[in-house]
Amino acid sequence: MFVNKIENYVFDNLAHKTLYKLAASNVIDSIDMTLSSGKEAVTFLGHSNTNPIVAKIYKIETSPFHNLQKYIVGDQRFKHVKKDKRNLFLAWASKEYKNLNLMLKNNVSCPVPIAIKENILIMSFIGEKDVAFPRLVNCKFDHEVIYEQIVDEYGKMLYGANLVHADFSAYNILVNPTTAKITIIDVGQAVLINHPKAQDFLKRDIINITDFLNKKHKKQITYEEFLNKLKKKKEEMYGRNNNSE
Ligand SMILES: Nc1ncnc2c1ncn2[C@@H]1O[C@H](COP(=O)(O)OP(=O)(O)OP(=O)(O)O)[C@@H](O)[C@H]1O
Ligand SMILES: [Mg+2]
Repeated sequence: MFVNKIENYVFDNLAHKTLYKLAASNVIDSIDMTLSSGKEAVTFLGHSNTNPIVAKIYKIETSPFHNLQKYIVGDQRFKHVKKDKRNLFLAWASKEYKNLNLMLKNNVSCPVPIAIKENILIMSFIGEKDVAFPRLVNCKFDHEVIYEQIVDEYGKMLYGANLVHADFSAYNILVNPTTAKITIIDVGQAVLINHPKAQDFLKRDIINITDFLNKKHKKQITYEEFLNKLKKKKEEMYGRNNNSE
């Protein structure tokens, strides 16, 4: 049922076996085309009962050991994981699934995680008629509408799910071209707020996204402004006197 190769991507033994298991348990029916081939994962459009789904296959051979360590070690959820490359790698693949679940529980606009098996994550498809919604970096957009939503969604992620994205950029935000509603994706590297590097990652996320927004608009958003707006969002969520970080 599954071919060995899609476009330039050759499935290795582990991916092949895992796809068969996912099919045997009726999670997917087919893998049909490549959506994106990144450094550390390849993302495919597939189907399940004619509904589009996304399969993200993490690539062990090109995941640098120090990257795996950076995002897994220090995350309390993975403190019992053995620190060899294979175990760190599988923990990392499962991390995106866990993070999506946390986000979903806190009403963050993100793909719905469907299954995680070995190094393959299955999630809902963000798009229409088998065409993925474009990334913010490729969109024309209303600055104010997008800025408000970014603060809103990041605020829920940070203060609701207690997660810092850690790779936040216009490449990891999809935009529905009809409604302009955004969806945050690519959360494998997101860390809990008590991670030792969380504050550094948060600062980098804010700088990345404000730099992008500022290039597109006359009105410049400072780092402090963005942070204050996020804190207002927190007050909205929890009230003024709440001390939870
Ligand atoms: N749930 C989804 N629905 C629709 N498209 C998706 C979904 N997840 C990922 N994509 C598409 O696949 C691309 C890559 O996904 P993602 O950012 O999660 O992986 P990545 O490993 O970071 O790859 P890259 O290095 O290309 O960013 C996205 O930019 C998007 O176009
Ligand atoms: Mg990405």
